[in-house]
Amino acid sequence: MVPPENFAVEYEINPWMDTSTEVDARLAVKQWEALKDALISKGHTVHTLVPEKGLPDMVFAANGAFTVDGVAYGAKFKYPQRSDEAKAHREFYESRDWTFRAPTLTNEGEGDFAYANGLILAGYGFRTDVTAHAEAQEALQRPVVSLKLVDPRFYHLDTALAALDDDNITYYPQAFSEASQRVLRQLFPDALIADEEDAEAFALNLVSDGLNVFLNTESVGMATKVMDRGYVPVLTDLSELKKGGGSVKCCIAELRR
Ligand code: ARG
Repeated sequence: MVPPENFAVEYEINPWMDTSTEVDARLAVKQWEALKDALISKGHTVHTLVPEKGLPDMVFAANGAFTVDGVAYGAKFKYPQRSDEAKAHREFYESRDWTFRAPTLTNEGEGDFAYANGLILAGYGFRTDVTAHAEAQEALQRPVVSLKLVDPRFYHLDTALAALDDDNITYYPQAFSEASQRVLRQLFPDALIADEEDAEAFALNLVSDGLNVFLNTESVGMATKVMDRGYVPVLTDLSELKKGGGSVKCCIAELRR
């Protein structure tokens, strides 16, 4: 995770960002700390990177790489405003004995890659280039399933789909092309289906450890749905970060050894 000390909305690269909106970076830090504390209270270890001036979106740590089986496939950001973020993530993995594979193609890490059922689910359409999906498969040696995102509000895969545990997911079907919806139905017939209200609350932008599901406080509908399936919702208010177009998942790069 990366503390949002320098968080601001200085440019608009997704429909949620509006440079005329006031952002309270101090409140953002407080909210972010509550999320970090919630993770730690559930037994997770959190590493933090040092936030850098001039990189207001660095809090969205999920975009820095994607890891599985001890291998990290690095990110190559679509927009120049964020491209310098990749280096800090790369240094983290290289200094901690991960195998780091550098990308040559545009991809935004866990923003567009998810891991479920031994597969890498990969989004494209807005940020990650579909050709990077093949590069990710070569780098990570896991099957990659390409899914086409079609709603600009849900521009990253992690705003439209999330793994709930090792073999099940939740997703908002309408964020995907018809064909990709069919693919998802084939792979995950028992998926928890989210609705537009969930998606707009950034409820899909969750992190689950297989038991605890970390959600933002706006995601009340999703909290009930995951509870019905036996998970424990853990809610944190991340209202400030929503102004940047992100929530729980965006703040957390998961480390899959
Ligand atoms: N402002 C950031 C961007 O548009 C938000 C990134 C959200 N991160 C995520 N994993 N969905 O790039």
